[in-house]
Amino acid sequence: MTAQIIDGKQVAAALRAELQEKVAQLKDKGIVPGLAVVLVGEDPASKSYVTAKEKACGNIGIYSEDIRLPAETPQAELMALVDKLNKDDKINGILVQLPLPKHLDEGEVLLAIDPAKDVDGFHPVNVGKMMLGQKAFLPCTPHGVIQLLLKSNVKIEGAEVVIVGRSNIVGKPLANMLIQKNATGNATVTVCHTRTKNLADHTLKADILIAAAGAPNMITADMVKAGAVVIDVGVNRVDDATKKRGYRLTGDVDFEAVKEKAGLITPVPGGVGPMTITMLLYNTVESAEKAAGLK
Ligand code: GUN
Repeated sequence: MTAQIIDGKQVAAALRAELQEKVAQLKDKGIVPGLAVVLVGEDPASKSYVTAKEKACGNIGIYSEDIRLPAETPQAELMALVDKLNKDDKINGILVQLPLPKHLDEGEVLLAIDPAKDVDGFHPVNVGKMMLGQKAFLPCTPHGVIQLLLKSNVKIEGAEVVIVGRSNIVGKPLANMLIQKNATGNATVTVCHTRTKNLADHTLKADILIAAAGAPNMITADMVKAGAVVIDVGVNRVDDATKKRGYRLTGDVDFEAVKEKAGLITPVPGGVGPMTITMLLYNTVESAEKAAGLK
């Protein structure tokens, strides 16, 4: 069996069209959602993510500020910037691109962001609310994965979900969201990580297998149950001399082999990636609506 491909670009485009419409309606009321994206340093992958976020904002009419700081920026300077953005009425969402250079205290920076502008859903207040099942900004990649599953008519309730990877950005929040007692939860979730023994014993049980480990092609066909839904969150740059830019993007899943075994599968690129940015736009619009007292 060859898997059906989940087209993240198409799902994202439909959601972005709805958001664009909403942004236009807000503009009629004099409200322009604003997002500040802060990048410290020169990490090439981070630079391209940030550029893509900026472009996506422009495309749907969200105001955005692109703030790029040198790698050696001191902690106090970054904290002062966050404080300034917290107080700026034009800005409804603040995103500090991670990872930060090693000398910076990521936890302190995330804690300083006003939870009402934390469109990444990384502030402990929002993480706590999410865990308690209260309304909060949901982190964009896990939220995007869930939207992709829903739009692909995958039944989450009762499914055996196996997540490979326990990051704060994907694995941990996604596991939490999928066990919530709500319409997008009620799954049975196993989280595997670098210390998991016999990884394949777990992954072979998955109705929905989510790879978010950051290891190229680590999920091979022999680790996947026939007919499973396979979601690849990995975005890895692999050297490739045949490409003009010298690398190609590859996921955590050995796509060519796994697509012959899975029932549904996301490609990289063009799967989860476009959804992450879409959910960022969604959170920014929602934040602007809340700030204007409309929600
Ligand atoms: N680095 C990788 N993914 C993300 C994300 O969703 N938000 C931020 N701020 N940094 C990231």
